[in-house]
Amino acid sequence: MLELIDVTKTYRTKGRAITALDGLTLRVPDKAIFGIAGRSGAGKSTLIRVVNALERPDGGKVLLDGEDLLRLPFKQLRDRRRKIGMIFQHFNLLHSQTVRENIEFPLTIAGIPKAQRKSRVDELVELVGLGDRVKNYPSQLSGGQKQRVGIARALAAKPSVLLSDEATSALDSETTNQILALLTSINHELGLTIVLITHELELLRRSATHVAVLRNGRLVEQGQVLDLVADPESRLGRDLLPGLTDAPVAPGKVKVLITAVGPDRDDAMLADIALDTGSRFDVVSGGVYEVSNHAVARFELAVDDTSQVRRTLGALAERKSIRVDFAHE
Ligand SMILES: Nc1ncnc2c1ncn2[C@@H]1O[C@H](COP(=O)(O)OP(=O)(O)OP(=O)(O)O)[C@@H](O)[C@H]1O
Ligand SMILES: [Mg+2]
Repeated sequence: MLELIDVTKTYRTKGRAITALDGLTLRVPDKAIFGIAGRSGAGKSTLIRVVNALERPDGGKVLLDGEDLLRLPFKQLRDRRRKIGMIFQHFNLLHSQTVRENIEFPLTIAGIPKAQRKSRVDELVELVGLGDRVKNYPSQLSGGQKQRVGIARALAAKPSVLLSDEATSALDSETTNQILALLTSINHELGLTIVLITHELELLRRSATHVAVLRNGRLVEQGQVLDLVADPESRLGRDLLPGLTDAPVAPGKVKVLITAVGPDRDDAMLADIALDTGSRFDVVSGGVYEVSNHAVARFELAVDDTSQVRRTLGALAERKSIRVDFAHE
């Protein structure tokens, strides 16, 4: 597990102090795809650099599998850093080297013998789908292919954690989806923990298992994506699954939020609501969304505000894997 405990980092430049991380505590469970969102300047890249030990915080702990990286002697820290892979927005490839050489580079640095390096690179190019491009130079590749090289290089030394800082920001949405699908399959197949930094929550909704929002160097909200979207009180949940309206409903009606999550999702729930309550309702907003690789149905309905309708909806929520939340009056 990767843990940050009470981490503080203040940059001091020309008499000005900027606190980029302000007592940040964060636990990233093993095998999670942990998304961290936040506006520009929130401290996302600083957080990544602290985890990567490229930046030393002023205080706090950075624990990888219980071991405090900040207290390790140089040589051990260098070893542990191999357990942490990193991919970048602008790929950071060596332009005068081929795909094979780029991927091989960290293995050469680590002193891995040549034959082993070759077979590892062969495995990695297959994994990222670039088996036929090993002799190409970065200038001969598309952005998506360059990021695949970046991913293969990051995985070369078999890390347990992969850090991604805006790794899809330079790509179009189709390519972004392909890269996220690749990261998801790597997460499943290799059991790798992935920390995804982005300023787009939309990206995290589909792929991430957990999400945290950083603002001014602190976490404002965090949780498992499926829990967050099922919780109408959660601001982050509302932001992850957009579409809810604040529109008022007609007199005599009350707004109710129906959420159904996961494999037990009941596709007939709207029909059941009409049949069981014996009354008509309006759909105010909603739909079926892909969330954390599950389907989530969420509808805002305007139903007749009668005790009979409320009772029936309450019973429905008990019978099925459906969450029913009436709007606050
Ligand atoms: N080396 C540095 N020296 C001084 N200030 C810095 C340095 N690096 C970052 N900062 C400041 O720390 C704060 C957090 O920066 P950081 O790069 O972590 O934000 P970010 O969330 O990654 O933003 P973006 O989405 O734009 O990449 C900002 O106010 C930034 O100006
Ligand atoms: Mg950044």
